[in-house]
Amino acid sequence: MTDLSTLPAARRYLETHLSVRQVNKVLHSFPSPRFWKDRAHAPPDVRPPGTDAPTCELYVALPFCLVTQPSHCGYCLFPTEGYVSQDQLDVYLTALEREGEHYRERWQHLQPRSIFIGGGTPNLLKVGQYPRLLGMIRSLLPSLPPGTPITLEGIPQLFSRDKLLAMKEQGVTRISMGAQQLDQGLSRLSGRTQTPRHVFQAVQWAAELGLGCNVDLIYGWPQQTLDHMRRDLQDLMASGVEHITHYELNVGGATDFALNHRDELPSPERVREMYHGAVSLLAAGGYAQLTPYDFQRVEAGTQTGFVYEECRRSFDAHDVWAWGYAAISDFPDHHRSPDAGGWTFMNARTLPGYYGALEQGRLPVECGYARSPADLRLSLLFRNLQSLSVDRASYLRNFGRDVLDEFAPIWRACEELGLLSIGSEAIRLTAEGAYRVPLIQTALMQGRVEEITEAHFAQLRALSRSQPGRAAP
Ligand SMILES: C[S@@+](CC[C@H](N)C(=O)[O-])C[C@H]1O[C@@H](n2cnc3c(N)ncnc32)[C@H](O)[C@@H]1O
Ligand code: SF4
Repeated sequence: MTDLSTLPAARRYLETHLSVRQVNKVLHSFPSPRFWKDRAHAPPDVRPPGTDAPTCELYVALPFCLVTQPSHCGYCLFPTEGYVSQDQLDVYLTALEREGEHYRERWQHLQPRSIFIGGGTPNLLKVGQYPRLLGMIRSLLPSLPPGTPITLEGIPQLFSRDKLLAMKEQGVTRISMGAQQLDQGLSRLSGRTQTPRHVFQAVQWAAELGLGCNVDLIYGWPQQTLDHMRRDLQDLMASGVEHITHYELNVGGATDFALNHRDELPSPERVREMYHGAVSLLAAGGYAQLTPYDFQRVEAGTQTGFVYEECRRSFDAHDVWAWGYAAISDFPDHHRSPDAGGWTFMNARTLPGYYGALEQGRLPVECGYARSPADLRLSLLFRNLQSLSVDRASYLRNFGRDVLDEFAPIWRACEELGLLSIGSEAIRLTAEGAYRVPLIQTALMQGRVEEITEAHFAQLRALSRSQPGRAAP
């Protein structure tokens, strides 16, 4: 077991990891879905009527993406399916409808604070398919208040004006567009065919139509220099876009970037410089930093503009209902008792798995995980850390304990290394600490990950003893 129980041990651990390229393992979930083994439960079992968290959101997934060479845009680790023809979308919408019927009664009174239609590439849908998708959502959620924020994600070249108009007419309030790189040479490494004109044109149309707009960029990309990054940010800020998401590239899996472009990646020190350079540039351009990667244009007379749900990072209990292929739902239970855990589920990550379950009349849940109270606290702590500080009072209110006591050597070691400052109300990240959030998270979860990993292998060993033909792990 890695020992992080004393200040010197925690400090040593952090110091040895400072020079290594970081991986944002917990952007979406803790623990990792590879440990989710439960096949017996589904969302309605664990979230019966009357047990809802005070607030919730809805995530709707569309799995298809344009096929690129290299595949999966060269870097993407999200589960997706290659788009071949529009029929696929019709078939999928029919399956989605079928899944939705399982929730009709349950969602009768549900009032999500926001809805995110993500993927994949939801703007592959044609103009005539938005009424179908949004109509389905409205039909299943008859209590949805008018004007509820609804975001739809996609790629630049598929946001035509007609589509944006159709989205707007159907109640979509914002688009989120993955640009990743504006430089054509760098963009082509991913096999994507968009041009900067597509990006700026869509930003302009969205503004004309009164739709909110976010653009995703990635830094730390193969062959990318500080100048490339600065040019992209400057051009994007000049477009007036209200929100910029600036992700550090995660390099992993059997992606083309991991296998064939590792040598062309900027060094860890250069990536760190990029982060700090971007934060300064965005601040100077009037964008407030909400998380290590979210930047929101400051509206006159306010600290920021409207803050979208996905940028909120409170410890308060909040349900996520997920609908569609590979969608992940989340049901914390600490509003019922401070010592409660919670559940998380993932839907099938293959089309045959997703369609097959629905044809059998089942919910397409692939696996679930019952979070222990400690897992739940960690997963919410990771989210809260992304707000650039940890709210000690809120942690105490929600869990009946002081977050400082729970991980004292790690917080103190981080403080010694200049990553944060510890105050009576909050643990505040420094500028460097904000960049190091993935490392701080890795240190905080280390003990629990080792426990879960050990339990996982013990289970596999027991299985191989009971089934001697199976290879031991
Ligand atoms: C699930 S994708 C969907 C958006 C859309 N399909 C697109 O590619 O523009 C959402 C965002 O995740 C980010 N992303 C995907 N893979 C990533 C990686 N390996 N490292 C960092 N960000 C990544 C990209 O910025 C992308 O826009
Ligand atoms: S980056 Fe977007 S378009 Fe590319 S494979 Fe991932 S989800 Fe699909």
